[in-house]
Amino acid sequence: MKKTVAIVGLGYVGLPLALVARNKGWNVVGFDVDEKKIAKIMQGKAPFEDVYVEKELANAPLHASTKPSVIANADVVVVAVPTPVTSDHMPDLTPLTSSLESILPYLKNGQLLSIESTINPGVMAEVVLPVIQKRPELNIHIVHCPERVNPGDATWSVANIPRVIGGFTKDATRKGKEFYESILDAKVKEMDSVMEAEAVKILENTFRDINIAFVNEMAKSFDTLGIDIKNVIEGAATKPFAFMPHYPGNGVGGHCISVDPYYMIEKARQAGFDHEFLKLAREINNSMPAFAVSLIDRAKEKLSLQDPIEVALLGLSYKKDIDDIRESPALEMRKILENRSDISLRVFDPHVPRLSTVESLDAALQGTEVVILATNHSDLIDALTPGNLKKYGVACVIDGKNALDADGIAQEGILYLGIGRSRE
Ligand SMILES: NC(=O)c1ccc[n+]([C@@H]2O[C@H](COP(=O)([O-])OP(=O)(O)OC[C@H]3O[C@@H](n4cnc5c(N)ncnc54)[C@H](O)[C@@H]3O)[C@@H](O)[C@H]2O)c1
Repeated sequence: MKKTVAIVGLGYVGLPLALVARNKGWNVVGFDVDEKKIAKIMQGKAPFEDVYVEKELANAPLHASTKPSVIANADVVVVAVPTPVTSDHMPDLTPLTSSLESILPYLKNGQLLSIESTINPGVMAEVVLPVIQKRPELNIHIVHCPERVNPGDATWSVANIPRVIGGFTKDATRKGKEFYESILDAKVKEMDSVMEAEAVKILENTFRDINIAFVNEMAKSFDTLGIDIKNVIEGAATKPFAFMPHYPGNGVGGHCISVDPYYMIEKARQAGFDHEFLKLAREINNSMPAFAVSLIDRAKEKLSLQDPIEVALLGLSYKKDIDDIRESPALEMRKILENRSDISLRVFDPHVPRLSTVESLDAALQGTEVVILATNHSDLIDALTPGNLKKYGVACVIDGKNALDADGIAQEGILYLGIGRSRE
């Protein structure tokens, strides 16, 4: 008989995972509190942009429900609910605890419960376990298996990214490994404890945040010296060891890199340790949207632009070719731009039409003096050629992703200002 896996939280992580498990022969059910999302999934429609999800749901809808009882007959329960921060950057574990509270009455002896949401070391023991222990008679296997998916990545997907797993018992870890290896085309590394598995994810994501902060700082510094950081990174990357290229930009967004460090900072603070490095990285990366927008003032002075300056902000999502706007630096840039009385702003993102102020790139570029590229969507990169920018009479391009043809744009007589990279 087919085994059943129940996925709790059918978002960017949970839904692709559910479909991957289904393709590997598991019977899959889903539980989510979002009624609209469940309705779409049941109709075979993807609730967000994801080619794999769209294709798989069109083939066959997934059995999903807003009722937690749907998990009752599952052999495995996977929790992939959000772990955001509050407006003052404090960890918000309410979705995690409330999802566990709602499934608690339906958990059964012998089940495997895997938490995939990103959490700091200690959450499994201090937050997850106390909820489960409200039913002391319950005997289940509990593991943490952090998700590593990289939305929009054509090579690495939920299905083939290797995992780490840590359980409260060796038996739980082994059972968890068996489950994940039955649905993934990837290796699963057993960690010695739950806390080690939690710490792996935090280490990976803070590593990335810190390295991006480092190149962002170098970009600001090189900017004052007129050095092109992109060329310098390409040069440094020829060293075959001990250098891993990271690239500067107008900020760090998304649900992970810009959020997870705060979980660690707060947990360490409570334990009596002050994470100076992590805090500084967050500060530097959070300063980048304002830095990118401030380049307008350089353009204004150099080109003697008159108020109000016609500005087009292109891209709102936090990374290319997806519609996810969570923690996107482009939203912060938009806020800063909207608060400036010397700017007349239009906004366009082909993946986020609901937040765009114009309906097409053509409408965004007509009569625009300064173009700000905030997200390097393929469509935008393809369209923002030097010749096209010239045709629209654009005077300055601010390239928040250092993704455009700097030399070609400058050759057309357009001022090019990137992040640590300009042609003035
Ligand atoms: N998105 C990524 O790229 C990514 C990558 C790695 C790890 N993660 C981590 O995975 C977790 C999930 O992220 P996501 O991007 O899938 O989030 P998401 O917001 O896309 O999806 C989470 C889903 O959980 C549902 N939900 C919220 N509260 C619930 C509750 N109480 N009961 C049942 N369902 C509930 C939401 O309605 C939503 O559909 C987070 O901890 C995140 O940090 C995300």
